[in-house]
Amino acid sequence: MSYTHILVDTRGRVGLITLNRPQALNALNDALIDEIGLALDGFEADENIGAIVITGSEKAFAAGADIGAMAGFSYMDAYKGDYITRNWERVKTCRKPVIAAVAGFALGGGCELAMTCDLLIAADTAKFGQPEVKLGILPGAGGTQRLPRAVGKAKAMDLCLTARFMDAAEAERAGLVSRVVPADKLLDEALAAAETIAGYSLPVVMMIKESVNRAYESSLAEGLLFERRQFHAAFALEDQKEGMAAFVEKRKAQFKHR
Ligand code: HXC
Repeated sequence: MSYTHILVDTRGRVGLITLNRPQALNALNDALIDEIGLALDGFEADENIGAIVITGSEKAFAAGADIGAMAGFSYMDAYKGDYITRNWERVKTCRKPVIAAVAGFALGGGCELAMTCDLLIAADTAKFGQPEVKLGILPGAGGTQRLPRAVGKAKAMDLCLTARFMDAAEAERAGLVSRVVPADKLLDEALAAAETIAGYSLPVVMMIKESVNRAYESSLAEGLLFERRQFHAAFALEDQKEGMAAFVEKRKAQFKHR
C-alpha cells in the first residue's frame, strides 16, 4: 500500500502513522483522512499490532483542515460530498487504542483529530485551538462537542469563540492531554506508552476502550451496567487466568491474546 499524505510504519507491536504534508503544516484534506482510515484498517487486521500512534511534525501535528481546498466550496459541495468531515470517526471506530502524539500546532481539524484519539500525549511545544471562527466557519469534526467534554464548557467556549490557542501546560491542567513531555522525547514517550498497551491482553484492552468511551455516550447507570457486563465477561478469557496466576506466582504475565 502506498500513501501520499501520510507515512505508515511499525515499531515493534505499534503501528505508527505520521501526517506528512510539511509544506502546509499537515493541513488535512479528504485524501489524507481517507489514508488514515486505510492505515487503520491495515493495523486492525494485523495480529502483530496492539496499539497505534498518530503524530505530525515538530512544527505541527496539523494546522487544521486545508483552507485552500475548502475556500470555494458551496453548501451543495460540502453537504453532498460530505467533504472534509467524512471518515473522521474512523479513529473512534478503531477497536485498538490510538494515541495522538502532538507537537506544535493542533488547530481546528488538527485539534479535532487529536481529540478523536484515545489518549493524547503532548510535547511542551504543543498549541491547541479551534480558530475556525476567524475563517467564518465553525468546528465541524467534533470541536464543539469533544472539547467541552474534555475541558468543560468555559474553556471550550473561550477557545471556540475567541480563537485563542491553549499551550501544552494549560491543556494538561484542563484535562485535554494526559501527559506533557519535552519535545525531543515525544515520539519515544508515545511509542513506549503504545508498546506497554500492546503488551496487555488485546480483548481486555478493547473492552477498556469500549467502556471508557461509553462514559461519553450514556448515562452513568447505563455506563456502569455496560462496564459490569464487560467485567464479568473478562472472566471468560484465558488471559484473565494467566494475569491473576502470574500475580500469585510473582512472575510477569505472558498474555496469549495480544
Ligand atoms: C492550508 C495551511 C494551513 C491550513 C497553514 N498552512 N495552515 N494551508 N490549510 N489550515 C500553510 C500556510 O498557508 C503556509 O503555506 C504554510 O502552511 C506555513 O504556514 P504559515 O502560516 O506561513 O506559518 P506560521 O506563520 O508559523 O503560522 C502558523 C499558523 C498559521 C498559526 C498555524 O499557518 C495558521 O493560522 N493556519 C491556519 C490555522 C487554522 O485556521 N486552522 C483551522 C482551519 S479550518 P505557504 O504556501 O504560504 O508557505 C478547520 C475546520 C475543520 O480546521 C472542520 C472539520 C474537519
